[in-house]
Amino acid sequence: MLIWPATRFVAGESREEALAVARELNEEGVLVSLDLLGENVTDRDRAAGFRDAYVELVGGIGAAGVDANISIKLSMLGLDIEQALARDHVITILQAAAEHDTWVRIDMEGSPYTQMTLEVFHEVFEEHPNVGVVIQSMLRRSRDDVERLIDVGARVRLVKGAYKEPAPLAFQEKERVNEEFDRLAERLLDDGVSPAIATHDQDRIDHALRYVTDRGIPADRFEFQFLYGMRRKTRRSLVERGYRMRVYVPFGEEWLPYFTRRLRERRENVLFVLKTLTRR
Ligand code: FDA
Repeated sequence: MLIWPATRFVAGESREEALAVARELNEEGVLVSLDLLGENVTDRDRAAGFRDAYVELVGGIGAAGVDANISIKLSMLGLDIEQALARDHVITILQAAAEHDTWVRIDMEGSPYTQMTLEVFHEVFEEHPNVGVVIQSMLRRSRDDVERLIDVGARVRLVKGAYKEPAPLAFQEKERVNEEFDRLAERLLDDGVSPAIATHDQDRIDHALRYVTDRGIPADRFEFQFLYGMRRKTRRSLVERGYRMRVYVPFGEEWLPYFTRRLRERRENVLFVLKTLTRR
């Protein structure tokens, strides 16, 4: 059962609850990406089960008429078993998404998955353009990856990266990760297709805002993205100023690891939970 302070960061356990949250966000002028929470799968039946759940989710989006796409994780679709298996499941999901006039973002996981995830992305993108991917500014390889994604006209969500990575693969200093974020954001804002600037970091948001203002890049050419429950005032203010904003809305029975990550990430999130608990 979803415990109550977690409802700040997780929409619920069921698809219906997630769709209800998506509808509320749409009413505030906010776009949505629904994320079914789950962990790495090492069993073919479970991978097929997640594929079916994603297919039902895009069906739910179509039936509910909400403005949402979905975010998927390849490790939930069997990437640990066989890359081709995950790829085939992605294709099934993309076909279902196209039928319901929506699209799919492939989340980026830890560095053991980066190459495989990008390979699957490029392979399916050729025939199924309703798919986007994620780039992490902490990874040293990301500059090259971004150039290739720009070349093929792919939709990229830019994030700093949520996983602890070794120095040979990733910048370790926060300042460097931030600098790379700004640099990659500039490249995507200049030449990318509907890039998503996904960060809660005000300095990064301000950098992007200054850049688009200086260059005269129209507000409908990119979007900001926040996680559900984060920076709600800023979210509102960006929407009021005419910027596109998408909120990543996680849901599902396997919510505990995600909720714990949000608490670990930021002291204020722990304070929020303590405050709501003592208020009851
Ligand atoms: P960070 O946590 O680095 O914060 C930097 C500064 O921002 C803080 O010091 C503070 O000044 C300010 N700040 C942060 N939160 C604030 C708040 N709530 N209120 C006020 N100020 C605040 N990762 C990944 O590896 N793969 C993925 O696919 C995704 N997908 C994804 C989607 C979306 C929509 C988002 C927003 C994020 C992801 N991530 C992700 C997670 C991402 O990589 C990263 O771990 C988190 O977003 C945290 O980094 P931030 O850039 O938000 O700022």
